[in-house]
Amino acid sequence: MKITLDSPLDMHLHLREDEMLRNVAPFSAKDFSGAMIMPNLVPPIDNLKRLLQYKADIYDATKGEIFKPYLTAFLKNYTREELLTFKDEIIAIKLYPAGATTNSDGGVEDLSHAADTLKLMEELGIPLSVHGENPKSHVLEREKDFLPTYEQIAKDYPKLKIIMEHITCVDAVKLLDKYDNLYATLTVQHLLITFDDIAGGLLNPHLFCKPIAKTFEDRDALRKLAFSAHPKVMFGSDSAPHPKSSKEGATSAAGCFTTPIALPCLVELFEKFDALDNLQAFISDNAKKIYGINPPEKKVTLEKKSFIVPEIYGDVVPTFAGEEVTWSVVSE
Ligand code: DOR
Ligand code: ZN
Repeated sequence: MKITLDSPLDMHLHLREDEMLRNVAPFSAKDFSGAMIMPNLVPPIDNLKRLLQYKADIYDATKGEIFKPYLTAFLKNYTREELLTFKDEIIAIKLYPAGATTNSDGGVEDLSHAADTLKLMEELGIPLSVHGENPKSHVLEREKDFLPTYEQIAKDYPKLKIIMEHITCVDAVKLLDKYDNLYATLTVQHLLITFDDIAGGLLNPHLFCKPIAKTFEDRDALRKLAFSAHPKVMFGSDSAPHPKSSKEGATSAAGCFTTPIALPCLVELFEKFDALDNLQAFISDNAKKIYGINPPEKKVTLEKKSFIVPEIYGDVVPTFAGEEVTWSVVSE
């Protein structure tokens, strides 16, 4: 049995820089037609020169593949002149509450400081992508506690497209339809696991990411959105590679490297719940409409053939290393 996806898109991806970029980018370029690339680097992506250099580095790391990187800039207080210099190079601007996740210390402390920029983004038609967690709350409540902020932005900037990235809780699912200008991405790990898989038995650092996976009720609400290919919902892996040494130690960095397993696991899951007919919308068509993009034409075929997830790629341990997935991507 085979299934062919038309121009699959990953609308939330961390590619990093330098050696890590060269190690992980080819996996995205093999399985996806394009991806939205996150800007939380050090220093962050926040000016034209850096955007152009980063774009060139990504093309360099993905040479020979059909793969379009859709870049984002890190939200700070930009002037109109600054925004106009790089507006055409980005698909969105990403809001990180200061301290919410990896390399977000330079993020926004107080949203009122970014009010002028948000107004400009609304006027210029630049979507706002958001890591929606309140870093001061309890780790399991951080997304829920951020929801009033989503509501405030949605109300204050009714023409601004706001993407609630990697939502993980039932309350975020409920909020999605309350405002026309709210959209969401879902990761593969949050469709598959709960907090139990991370910490219910032996601690599994390779499933640790932010926002952290939550309860069965939360996971089921996310699954419902994905399986119905809700038109305001897109796939965004949040694949976030860290070297093995940063994941396996006394402390563990947040982030799951899911790129190599993303499509096989999604097909397996959608098949299990008899939702394969809606996978194309979830993996590409919805994102095309929401962002108004036209990614390069690329067919990616998967077959029902077992795939044993490798233990390591370079120095990065993938999610579900050593486990079996029942579908694999057919290499050309
Ligand atoms: O777990 C995460 N890791 N969540 C994010 O939002 C960022 C990411 C990273 O950059 O490592
Ligand atoms: Zn992310």
